[in-house]
Amino acid sequence: MTDTRPTLYLSRLLPDPIMAIVRERFRLVQEPLDALPTPSALRDGLCHADAAIVTLGDRIDAETIHAADRLKLLANYAVGYNNIDLAAARQRGLIVTNTPDVLTDATADLTWALILATARRIVEGDVLVRSGQWTGWSPTQLLGAEVSGKTLGIIGMGRIGQAVAQRAMGFRMAVRYHARHEMAASSLSSGWESRSLQDLLGEADIVTIHVPLTPSTRHLIGTRELAWMKPTAFLINTARGPIADEGALVEALRRGTIAGAGLDVYEQEPVVHPALSQLKQVVLLPHLGSATLHARVQMGLVCLKNIHAVLEGLPAPNRVQA
Ligand code: DGY
Repeated sequence: MTDTRPTLYLSRLLPDPIMAIVRERFRLVQEPLDALPTPSALRDGLCHADAAIVTLGDRIDAETIHAADRLKLLANYAVGYNNIDLAAARQRGLIVTNTPDVLTDATADLTWALILATARRIVEGDVLVRSGQWTGWSPTQLLGAEVSGKTLGIIGMGRIGQAVAQRAMGFRMAVRYHARHEMAASSLSSGWESRSLQDLLGEADIVTIHVPLTPSTRHLIGTRELAWMKPTAFLINTARGPIADEGALVEALRRGTIAGAGLDVYEQEPVVHPALSQLKQVVLLPHLGSATLHARVQMGLVCLKNIHAVLEGLPAPNRVQA
């Protein structure tokens, strides 16, 4: 009997509940691996599929988009889509979708884990205990910075920025934000105040980045902006690495321009600036923002919902526009 199921390219192995649905409903062009595909495997997969689920490590350029002329939809398994040449997709009529909402809580929670880990020196404490060198409680040991009651500066007040702000209320923090677009006051809690980037950086004790990576946000935080921050302040980035200039950040940390940084994302993932790993005032995570089983399953379901809609000739619920 002929297999009439649509053909799907999956660039990475997804969590089991999603793999089970995918294997039932689609013919897979290639068996996905738990690793990034090579550029040629990626292109080959996209060229032989009706629809594809790709991840943020897959660079999908104009040449690949034009070569994959059978493909109807690229479902990006992420909320960010800076890995895809959207202008080329639009030109070729290829639908691109993302996975908003379902990872907001996971990413906001992880941002808070980084804020607390960085300010309270959690990783250094863990290393000390494991080393067997801990000699007991001391009044001067691993003193960190207070978080409760301080000022949180949020760059980017979309879904994730707002979820981070809501959590700050439990810490009685003053929330200042810098948004690219004017925010409707009704969507924000009273007490959250808008600032210019310079004022926000000068006022905040903790600065956290929640804007998408676009040409206008690349290196939004560089030497000049870091110098605007307080020497006691911390920079947290769970958005995209290139939004902060990593070289400038290393220099600012070395010189004491700022007190520390918590990073989940890097300019050249998975390569990390070697100096960052040497700095104790930095906490480094391997891009874990959405890494809960719940969020990752929901992200898969959102991709599948978009694929089914498009293959049935309906509008994609999460289409992104160039
Ligand atoms: C996203 O969805 O953009 C995240 O970075 C993936 O974890």
